Amino acid sequence: MSTITIKADRISQVHISDGEWDLALEKALDGRARAAIIVSETIASHINFEIESDTDIHIFTIPDGEEGKSSRTLLKLWDWLGAAGFTRSDLIVGIGGGATTDIAGFAAATWLRGIDWVAVPTSVAGMVDAAIGGKTGMNSDYGKNLIGSFHSPIHVIVDTSWLTTLSDRDFAAGLAEVIKCGFIADKKILDLVEGKELSQIRNDNDLVTQLITAAINVKASVVSADFKESFHREVLNYGHTLAHAIEIDSKYSLRHGEAVSIGMVFAAELSHTHASLSKEIVDQHRRILNNLNLPISYEAQAWTRLLPLLSLDKKARGRTIRFVLLEALEKTGRLDSPGERELSAIYERVSK
Ligand SMILES: NC(=O)c1ccc[n+]([C@@H]2O[C@H](COP(=O)([O-])OP(=O)(O)OC[C@H]3O[C@@H](n4cnc5c(N)ncnc54)[C@H](O)[C@@H]3O)[C@@H](O)[C@H]2O)c1
Ligand SMILES: [Zn+2]
Repeated sequence: MSTITIKADRISQVHISDGEWDLALEKALDGRARAAIIVSETIASHINFEIESDTDIHIFTIPDGEEGKSSRTLLKLWDWLGAAGFTRSDLIVGIGGGATTDIAGFAAATWLRGIDWVAVPTSVAGMVDAAIGGKTGMNSDYGKNLIGSFHSPIHVIVDTSWLTTLSDRDFAAGLAEVIKCGFIADKKILDLVEGKELSQIRNDNDLVTQLITAAINVKASVVSADFKESFHREVLNYGHTLAHAIEIDSKYSLRHGEAVSIGMVFAAELSHTHASLSKEIVDQHRRILNNLNLPISYEAQAWTRLLPLLSLDKKARGRTIRFVLLEALEKTGRLDSPGERELSAIYERVSK
């Protein structure tokens, strides 16, 4: 087991293991009178909670995916915590994908104005992204992640044994964020995946552990340097400006990581034109992502719909549409408010 420490609103310890999550959880429960375990339906069907602990454990099952992050789920959860009389010294534990750890963390952030919580992410996206960095939240009927709070878990228990039941599609979508970390901050990640197909990665647990650890280190160092997302944390949005528009346009039929994959190729092409990124590195984006069966292009006709959606992003930020660029491997830059005609020309390079 290895441990990474993140210094954010509080100290978060990330424990990385293979098949020892229950031991790590038992340690995290030590000394707590009670714990509320919030778990998604799919994960609940995979495990039996034989946790050796003196802690009185209460289990609350929530729907899988985004419905688990809805106000309906949160209202039920708050009522359940109230009925069971959860106090400030009790603990919340979220076990599941990013949607589950997001809502578990938000419940912890809001219950009695904030109680301790532990994240046990079970998807690649959850391990390298959602459970790292202290953002918790939920969806509103008006959009995803509109409601939230910064409230870091005291422990994040990352255990690769969960990943055996994850679908190939969700595995690859999570790897898109790992690859992103490779381009923006740690090119060793790219060396590790270069020339490999998804099945080769999945079948090599040491490699999976190395990749997940490296990506967590990238996010941990960015977040430790800049917790509340001003300048520095923005580098994590590489590929995300177009990705958010594509996610909405696809009515969320594409996974977030799939949209980020297309968005990264777009950002790389934009960087080739605006920031002297070499053609070889643009090609490397396509090669690595394509090898993992991630999409690298999107419908040509979608551009007229995507442009207003990019402007929505602009509304959220103020006056500008901002792209994170890559000037070279491990070196990011920014581009504010590029012209529509330029963007449309770049889009032609990622459209099919
Ligand atoms: N807080 C943050 O900083 C942050 C960052 C990135 C993403 N997120 C959020 O995380 C979510 C995306 O994460 P995700 O892809 O894990 O989503 P998810 O929780 O919806 O999980 C995806 C699917 O995988 C299933 N699953 C998860 N673990 C499994 C396992 N071990 N075996 C079998 N099936 C499993 C889930 O049931 C679900 O159907 C989004 O809601 C996103 O907004 C948050
Ligand atoms: Zn992302």
